[in-house]
Order: sequence, then C-alpha cells, then structure tokens
Amino acid sequence: MSIFKEVFEKPNEYKHDLYPEEILKTCKMFSSTLKYECDKVHLWRDSLRHPAYPLEEWQHLWPEYPNTYRECVGNYSVKIKELGSRIMNLISEGLGLECGYFDNDNLSDSLVISLNHYPPCPDPSLTLGVIKHFDAYLITVLQQEDICGLQVLKDGEWIAVDAIPHAFVINIGCALQILTNGKLKSAEHRAVTNSDQARTTAAFFIAPSGDCFIEPTKDLIDEHNPPIYKSYEYKELLTRFFKKHGDMDMVLKSYEEEEPKD
Ligand code: OGA
Ligand code: NI
Repeated sequence: MSIFKEVFEKPNEYKHDLYPEEILKTCKMFSSTLKYECDKVHLWRDSLRHPAYPLEEWQHLWPEYPNTYRECVGNYSVKIKELGSRIMNLISEGLGLECGYFDNDNLSDSLVISLNHYPPCPDPSLTLGVIKHFDAYLITVLQQEDICGLQVLKDGEWIAVDAIPHAFVINIGCALQILTNGKLKSAEHRAVTNSDQARTTAAFFIAPSGDCFIEPTKDLIDEHNPPIYKSYEYKELLTRFFKKHGDMDMVLKSYEEEEPKD
C-alpha cells in the first residue's frame, strides 16, 4: 500500500509520462475517467490501471518509479492471483461444480490492477470518487485501509462498507454473473470522498483472457433453469461495458437493441 500511495505522490513531470494520448495504452494513469473530456461531472480521483498477469507479458510496461514498484507489485500480483484462484475454487464448490471449474479455458487467467487515489475533497456533496457501477470481470479483490468510502446499493439504498484494516473486500463481477446464469449477482457500488483524509485503494480484477466467450455455464442450466443470458464475446462485452460506464443493464440492452425485429 505504501508503494501504491507513492505512485500518486510523485511530481507531475513523472506522472505526465503515464498519461497516454491513446486510450488503450497498457499502463495508464488518468484523472476522473478514461474520457475526461466527455465527463458530465469530473470524479475526484486519480487512477493507475494496468494488466498484471502473466508477469512476463506486462511487468516491463509498468511504472519505473517508485523503483521498487515492478518487483514488489510483481511478487504481490502472484500472491493475489493465487488468492483469486482459491476464492474461485470455493465459489465453484459452493455452486456444486467441481473445484477448478472456472480455472480453465482462459476464463480466469488474467489479473488487472486498478489503483485509485482520492484526495481530500473540499465538498464531497458535489461529486464522487467513483460513480455507481458494476465491476466487469469475474471477481474483484479490493484492498483499502481503515478509511471508509465504498458503498453498495441494496434495495435502493446506499450502504457503507466497513473498511476493515488488513481485510479484502471481494466483489462479484458481471462476467461471473453471466457465467453462473445469474445465480451469483454482481453488486452495484460507488465510492464517496471525504473532506479531511486522502484515501488510496487497490482493486485487483481476476479476469478472463484471450478470445473467450462469456455465457451461462452448461452445468448450471437445465430445463428448469434456462439460460437468462446469451453468449457474449468477451472483448466486445468489455468494450461495451466501458462505453456504458459499468452499467450492466445498459450493456445488455445495447445488445437487445441490435437484435433483428420480427
Ligand atoms: C473500482 C472500485 C472502489 C473504491 O475500482 O472498481 O469500485 O473504494 N473502487 O476504491
Ligand atoms: Ni468497482
């Protein structure tokens, strides 16, 4: 966490190198959202986002400063990936599927790191740290300190999630909701700011890789449980997801709208 914080304390000249012109550069730092110019309201955060796993593929593209970043975050990514696999295996078992069920077919091979830094905000009523969204991938492992900010939408109300030191928050992502045919639901969430303390968080997304399809897994569907989602090409799903700012309903609707009408 101290290395993550240091990333955002660096002077602007350093940060400038990480603000890419093109949006799909693999390691990117940004303020508010990836499309700052298109924001209706700017968010009160700086972010650094990059793929993390497999290390050989990505580590050389990560920030060079703080100079321990690549080594330390590299070792840590391997551990987080292991934790992610353990959780995915427990989820498989909980669903009555065999252990390791989601561990194949490129379904949970990747890890994406997204660091968020929310400076103290003079008036937290005017904006948010992150607007309400669903996470796109399988599961999110969120690391935070003892400063609250995360809220989950339940029955139309925002509920603050306690910030428990040294504990991770695990969130189910939309890809897992589709894979489990809606048995596991992704939680809609947001982050609020506060006026007196900076808050830094690290979200580790366990994600599919490659050209897979995200669809209800055949072992969870039968005549009583028909598929409620169709098959989505992962890359296309992700593109739409970011376009719709993590609004799952809008993403699904965008496919329906293209369906040929009878
Ligand atoms: C995210 C996220 C919440 C937080 O990065 O997807 O929801 O508290 N972060 O930083
Ligand atoms: Ni999120």
